[in-house]
Amino acid sequence: DPKSNKPALTLLIAAPRGFCAGVDRAIEIVERALDRYGAPVYVRHEIVHNKFVVDSLRDKGAIFVEELDEVPDGAPVVFSAHGVPKAVPAEADRRGLDYLDATCPLVSKVHRQAERQIAADRHIVFVGHKGHPEVIGTMGQVPEGAMTLVETIADVEALDFAPDAPLAFLTQTTLSVDDTAGIVMALRSKFPQIIGPKAEDICYATSNRQAAVKQIAPGSDLVLVIGAGNSSNSLRLVEVSKKCGTDAKLIRRATDIDPAWLDGVGTLGLTAGASAPEQLVREVVDLISQWREVEEHTLVSTVEKMVFKLPRQLTE
Ligand code: F3S
Repeated sequence: DPKSNKPALTLLIAAPRGFCAGVDRAIEIVERALDRYGAPVYVRHEIVHNKFVVDSLRDKGAIFVEELDEVPDGAPVVFSAHGVPKAVPAEADRRGLDYLDATCPLVSKVHRQAERQIAADRHIVFVGHKGHPEVIGTMGQVPEGAMTLVETIADVEALDFAPDAPLAFLTQTTLSVDDTAGIVMALRSKFPQIIGPKAEDICYATSNRQAAVKQIAPGSDLVLVIGAGNSSNSLRLVEVSKKCGTDAKLIRRATDIDPAWLDGVGTLGLTAGASAPEQLVREVVDLISQWREVEEHTLVSTVEKMVFKLPRQLTE
């Protein structure tokens, strides 16, 4: 037995991890659309940032495109969980396309807040990561120039609005809870009149997954985070672990693990980003169990019960 000469491995699995209610809903929208309309159903952008989810929906008949002009007239199209600029549904309406919006309701909530602040004549400072589709979608809710993106405290320091300018701030849903607290503090101290959400707009799933990593990281020698390189919330989990002083690696799936990483590791932490299926977690446990005797423990920091309703078009 190749395992017999190696010490047992304690595996600390974070909970909650993996799929959030917005991802569950987005995947179900594509599946139900396939049932209702038949294949192909077009999906604008990866429905959620995970290759395995995208591949399995593609196998069922979904066609993924980046822009609406790749969708033929008359074909149904789903917008991804990250949200879209207003111009996208407007163009779909103009073309008479049948579309389903899988934007997470917690992202839509930020969109509505953006509209409200603009209606109240405030300029919006948006805390987010440049280029992420959620940021493009949220910035596309308001007229050009009505929202300024900041990514860091240095960006806040460089803002040159008058100290009494009418301002509001909003945030991306998948940010680091700790980093965002610092940025919001900098905003409030530079612009004491700034209006903002009570906490920030970071969603329950993002904050719960970060809190769960904080429970496993301090006692682990290494943390593995299952997620895609373009998944914002997964990247944040890697950062949170490193800030706890424990090295962390982002892996797409079990086969990305280099067995040498486990040399000298007695306790391994494991979690998954909000778009990573639980099947990939089991795959990791199974592979590691071939190398080492594994003692598996799940550390539950919160139990989630969130469920989001499907769009009316699919339930009628
Ligand atoms: Fe929504 Fe948060 Fe998931 S914004 S899609 S619940 S990570």
